[in-house]
Amino acid sequence: MPFLHFRPSSTTKFYAYKCHYFDVVLERPSCTLSLTLVVSHLYSATSIQGSDVDRSDAFSRHSRATDAADSDISDAKPVRIIHVVGARPNFMKAAPVLRALRRFPEVRQALVHTGQHYDANMSGVFFAELGMPEPELNLQVGSGSHAQQTAAIMTRFEPIVLETRPDMVLVYGDVNSTVAAALVCAKLLIPLAHVEAGLRSFDRTMPEEINRVVTDQLADLLLTPSIDGNENLQREGVPECRIHFVGNVMIDTLVQLLPKAQSQLPDELPPQYALITMHRPSNVDDSTFLRELLQTLDEISREIPVIFPMHPRTRQRLAELGLSFSCAARMRLTEPLPYLQFLALQTRATMVITDSGGIQEETTYLGVPCLTVRENTERPVTVTIGTNVLVGRNMVRLGDEVKRILKGGRSPSGVPPLWDGHAAERVAAAVVNWQPSR
Ligand code: UD1
Repeated sequence: MPFLHFRPSSTTKFYAYKCHYFDVVLERPSCTLSLTLVVSHLYSATSIQGSDVDRSDAFSRHSRATDAADSDISDAKPVRIIHVVGARPNFMKAAPVLRALRRFPEVRQALVHTGQHYDANMSGVFFAELGMPEPELNLQVGSGSHAQQTAAIMTRFEPIVLETRPDMVLVYGDVNSTVAAALVCAKLLIPLAHVEAGLRSFDRTMPEEINRVVTDQLADLLLTPSIDGNENLQREGVPECRIHFVGNVMIDTLVQLLPKAQSQLPDELPPQYALITMHRPSNVDDSTFLRELLQTLDEISREIPVIFPMHPRTRQRLAELGLSFSCAARMRLTEPLPYLQFLALQTRATMVITDSGGIQEETTYLGVPCLTVRENTERPVTVTIGTNVLVGRNMVRLGDEVKRILKGGRSPSGVPPLWDGHAAERVAAAVVNWQPSR
């Protein structure tokens, strides 16, 4: 079994850790990166005295050793891939890709968690449910301003890339972890693949839109979930040969786990309910709008019971403003839910009211009416093909749409092309067949 070696530069000690996927040698970058890097499956922390070892030599030595060990499996040159995840919506996208790439014997994979999301119910719980290996490394960046968070990820990820020189780094979605890792790779000339490329809200007040635009400009391989993604990238001048329409990897996870999710439905679920999520800065950081939104949700709860798993950002804002919900039985507030429970609740919901990107997609696949509290969406197929309706920040419109759904008014729905449960297989094929010269 290959090893991951972790080398503090300030001393000559070496730490050997068991690594699931491929061999890397990591130097402790500086005292700013604490030695709390979490390496799962700790094999040993044997202190080895010795002089500095040339990093590339050490790496190739490990590669050669692995080649020999694996020669019965494959003669192909190992392809070493790092996946970077950091925030809740990344996990369900990376899980099927990790699984699909495991089918290629030449591929060695490592998972780096930036630690952008760190609460157990925003991160840890997903790994077990999604059947994902524990990350090899957790950079533990935590919260901060956008600049602080992005910079911390870059500072802590750069030495890993420098030491390991992976053949490709895969980033997911549009969170700060995505763009931070992309910037590191671009500057170190490490090939970068972006899963969920090409989505555009055309609203640069959204931090995620900045992350999308920058990441797509830097990526060598752009894997799009829907055809509008291809069109956006072409318009921005991305060479055609870099763009691959693969479909929606998040739907792969949904398709795989839907049967299991059905068994996770809570007892005593009302026959009808509205499921709410709300966390966008544009909604919850604006105190005037947040008050209006809460009042509208309170009114909606008089017509239909509401279940509201609350994002930590939203909970913090409510606390800062001294606002609270009436915790009547008709308004059920919970902590953020694990994936399976939340998916189960979506399948039975009469409607979902959200500002999340991923939930617009999941409800589209499930055919559940979705009311999106945003002026725009980077996922227009959920409106043109799916059940999604953009109500903007117009709370009268939100109330009207709720009434329309309660009267049985359902829009026609469909599933966009290649949202078929096999997108990750297409991602894996594109990654393995990628040629640097193209
Ligand atoms: C991030 C993503 C967003 C994604 C969302 C899903 C960016 C720019 N935004 O937004 O695209 O839809 O995740 O959740 O990357 N916090 C906790 N515990 C945690 C994580 C966060 O308490 O485990 C708190 C932090 O203190 C922070 C706030 O929540 O103040 C926001 O976290 P942050 O990662 O900055 O962005 P999100 O709003 O979660």
